Amino acid sequence: MNTSVKIAEGLILKNPVLSASGTFAYGEEFSEIFDLSLLGGIVTKGLSLKPKKGNPSPRVFETTGGMINAIGLENIGVDAFVIEKLPFLGQFNAPVIVNFFGNEEEEYELVAARLDVDGISALEMNVSCPNVKKGGIEFGKDPNTLLSLVSRVRRATSKTLFVKLSPMVKDIREMAIAAQEAGADAITCANTIPAMAIDETTQRPVLGNITGGLSGPAIKPVALKLVWDVHQCVHIPIVASGGINTYHDVIQFLLAGASAVEVGSASLRDPLCFIDIIEGTKAYLKEHSIQSVTELVGKLII
Ligand SMILES: Cc1cc2nc3c(=O)[nH]c(=O)nc-3n(C[C@H](O)[C@H](O)[C@H](O)COP(=O)(O)O)c2cc1C
Repeated sequence: MNTSVKIAEGLILKNPVLSASGTFAYGEEFSEIFDLSLLGGIVTKGLSLKPKKGNPSPRVFETTGGMINAIGLENIGVDAFVIEKLPFLGQFNAPVIVNFFGNEEEEYELVAARLDVDGISALEMNVSCPNVKKGGIEFGKDPNTLLSLVSRVRRATSKTLFVKLSPMVKDIREMAIAAQEAGADAITCANTIPAMAIDETTQRPVLGNITGGLSGPAIKPVALKLVWDVHQCVHIPIVASGGINTYHDVIQFLLAGASAVEVGSASLRDPLCFIDIIEGTKAYLKEHSIQSVTELVGKLII
């Protein structure tokens, strides 16, 4: 049975299960709990050119079927990552996929160029964060803006490039086509959905940022539909993100057209869920006499 997935010439995953950006930090805490070499890939917290403090607390809130976060892209900055975190990640036999963003177009380009170093297998460009004033979804709403931005980043890096889209766009297909046209190697589909929580006792918003992004099982059906839509219109691989909790979810996303999946919020609740998800996926393939995981991609029977 073959669980490996080819995302691009330079990127073959041993299985289709990756961590998600922002719920795995830089891997250190999780490495104390399980062997990160078991993962299909390690996706790290979004990086900017300079360190970023993020939003005021409270920054997370558990809600029915998921959580709302407004971290505000807090991170240590690209240079500290390369010096302090990347060598640690290099000891594992799993490709490192570095998520990043910029406050303006030029910053995206600069960060991508600084990440063009050994030890990084791919970059994931975040054009979809709902929790920051600059550097998030403002670049991911209009296909022409996205085309121009991804083209600039494409020229700045030789790495495999994922573009992580927002669910909050007029038509995600237009965005995926623009990213593909600009030279993206894969589409990550998708980021969190804008949301908020209110405490009626205090009559105040729960989150310091007032609004945040909803993730977890609550958004899975939305993400599934987005993956299905994107699969109809691009030929590059899709990496699914949104509410993946179990191997059942993995199989469903593969059938909808994803080649791999990212597990985010579920791993905050149970850091060992990656192992169950990988093992469950293998057991499903065996039970259904499927030789290769890729046989399932986009094979929804209708
Ligand atoms: C606490 C938290 C921090 C996040 N930080 C980032 C980030 O830095 N960059 C990014 O592209 N997505 C970020 N995300 C979005 C996740 O990577 C993922 O796309 C989203 O949570 C949906 O997946 P899930 O339902 O499995 O959590 C974050 C999500 C959470 C919950």
